[in-house]
Amino acid sequence: MIKKILFAAVLIISNLLAQTPYKTLTDVKDNLNGFTNSSVERKIDSLIVQMSLKEKIGQLIQIVGTPEYLETLIKEGSVGSILIGTGMPGKVNKLQRLAMESGAKIPLLFAHDVIHGYYTIYPVPLGEAASWNPETAKQDAHLAAMEAASQGTNWTFAPMVDIARDPRWGRITEGAGEDPFLGSVMAAARVEGFQGTDLSDLFSIAACAKHFVAYGAAQAGREYNTVDISERTLREIYLPPFKSAVDAGVASVMSAFNDLNGIPASANYHTLTEILKEKWNFRGLIISDFNSIGELISHGIASNKYDAAKEAFLAGVDVDMVGDTVDGNAYLPNLEKLVNRGVISTDKLNESVKRVLRIKFKLGLFEHPYVDTAFYKSHLITKNEREKIVRKSADESIVLLKNTNNLLPLKKDVRKIALIGPLADNESDPLGSWSAAGNPDNVITVLKGISGKVSPDTKINYIKGCDINDSDETGFPGAVEAAQNSDVAILVVGESRNMSGEAGSRVNLDLPGVQEKLVERVSEAGTPVVVVLMNGRPLTIDWIAENIPAVLETWFLGDQSGNAVADVLFGDYNPSGKLPVTFPRSVGQIPIFYNHMNTGRPAKPNDRFTSKYLDSPATPLFPFGYGLSYTTFIYKNIRLDKSEISSDDSLTASIDVTNSGNVKGEEVVQLYIHDRIRSVTPPVKELKGFQKILLNPGETKTIKFIITPAMLTFLDKNLKPVIEPGIFDIMIGGNSVDLLSTSFKINNNSK
Ligand code: NOJ
Repeated sequence: MIKKILFAAVLIISNLLAQTPYKTLTDVKDNLNGFTNSSVERKIDSLIVQMSLKEKIGQLIQIVGTPEYLETLIKEGSVGSILIGTGMPGKVNKLQRLAMESGAKIPLLFAHDVIHGYYTIYPVPLGEAASWNPETAKQDAHLAAMEAASQGTNWTFAPMVDIARDPRWGRITEGAGEDPFLGSVMAAARVEGFQGTDLSDLFSIAACAKHFVAYGAAQAGREYNTVDISERTLREIYLPPFKSAVDAGVASVMSAFNDLNGIPASANYHTLTEILKEKWNFRGLIISDFNSIGELISHGIASNKYDAAKEAFLAGVDVDMVGDTVDGNAYLPNLEKLVNRGVISTDKLNESVKRVLRIKFKLGLFEHPYVDTAFYKSHLITKNEREKIVRKSADESIVLLKNTNNLLPLKKDVRKIALIGPLADNESDPLGSWSAAGNPDNVITVLKGISGKVSPDTKINYIKGCDINDSDETGFPGAVEAAQNSDVAILVVGESRNMSGEAGSRVNLDLPGVQEKLVERVSEAGTPVVVVLMNGRPLTIDWIAENIPAVLETWFLGDQSGNAVADVLFGDYNPSGKLPVTFPRSVGQIPIFYNHMNTGRPAKPNDRFTSKYLDSPATPLFPFGYGLSYTTFIYKNIRLDKSEISSDDSLTASIDVTNSGNVKGEEVVQLYIHDRIRSVTPPVKELKGFQKILLNPGETKTIKFIITPAMLTFLDKNLKPVIEPGIFDIMIGGNSVDLLSTSFKINNNSK
């Protein structure tokens, strides 16, 4: 009951927060770092001395699924965790009982990829990031944790905090986009949501920040591909969201599949041990990605599983996640030999085992090893409450890309609507990739959402028109005719859910199949057209952006898809989403991202020998941070309270933002900083803060950002953090391009 009340309180507070500026996240008390003298450490120490070598190694083994030999392995103490399916509380309890009755009596961890919901599915993480609302992300993750916990899952392989600058890479859908600052804010929020303020809370589950590290920098956007980036880019772009997750107390980190500058991420001592375990003092466990230890053989740095196990373990991977124990596992058959031969010291082995035990103690599993489904049944929030939460996140994730002559919002008493497209009445694709126990039957399609929204007299003529990805155009004439006979045509087009996510890389980011042709034909009918995009990544939609008057980016919104789309189409929710990733005009521009360095020859329109393309503008189709509203916001009077400070001082930047339209609306006010001259090339701008505010028509708010030394710090030639004297540009606005700017100076004095 208390938990329920707390959750309701969180709801109320976050609703209030939605109307007031927020910036910082609630501090998490239960940080896994820095526990050394706690009672948990004492419990671990007294348990580990009683464990046999076999039982210790068992803690470092994860089995995937529930193969026949699993029970034998559990009984002999050779398994520490299981990657379990969804909705199996009976099985969980049965296996847990075997573990609790085995010699060591150590409970098992049960893991699953709970990425954007368990039963109740909310927007894919990239969509959720478009809300620029960490409280929404936190609440969604908490809801998912509650549902997962109710089925015995106590560990999720989420959040994915990989920065992705390449939309060809399908896993871009699973992260927060291209920016390390937004990515860090969302990483912390998601960890806090899954883990709550106390891991032992029955509604908390352990989180896992993945994939460590730089997985998103796969060459050519091809899944699992090699990564070759500078140490600077690693530290400035790819590491920050992981640091943020660690600071938020994340219980585990997953080592990635990719090779990183010649050393595979799952055998990388520099990143796993030197940075994560030593520099950041990470006290949780590191688990390999699925068979990424065994794959060290294909990478060419190990000739057999024995060597692979050695390389991974000595680099810092604690737990081996694999497909099967017969030929999949690297640790199970080899760690004992490695310890007996002195290649792995007992101290090092113990350290890894302690990391696993620490999480089990912190989760309270020794006290509550079993899942009590009856408890959750009576304590979970109601369906109605769940739907409200995910509908709000879905509303907030939608980005209005274009709205010529205020075609949107539509009137609810519009006489006739032609609703066209393969995603208009589609129940499964809106679930997006990784949908755990999500059920297409729970998905409100756009057809359903609109039907529930419009007046009873409105006639909706739904025609599919074509499939997502084939060449059949026989449905075109019907679609065109429907458009001709309607007041507005709404086309719902995009990708299928399996076109993004793991192994979802694509070289062509146009709308698949004949969908763009369908949009072209329908638009020729002369009826006003709205395009609603559903996809897991930015698509190259230059023709649509040029020729269609109103365009909504809706990603994959989960269960409440159709209701949220209808909320926005008909003005019950004024869109507030902003792109967490740049939309390229064409694949040839990739990688394209807003925080790039300047060249020696920045583009000039009439000078060929400047940095640009002969056959396309170099600028994005839609920039990072971009998104429209049904109202307009005017930014004025950017100012600083000081024009010169020393490097250890802070100053305050202010700006007046006015809602100059007729409806209330939320705006994401974004702060970017540019260091003009420094010893290492500065990016043209970097996001350093944002606030989402609500303004009534005619209302003006003064928004303030405190510019701290941390925001001005960069890595010098020796990769040491410094602030150098000089001029800094402060830019504030509603996206990464349309910004007001001012500047201040850092002088040579420090206090
Ligand atoms: C491989 C994926 O890369 C990873 O993200 C996931 O957690 C594991 N498989 C387990 O499903």
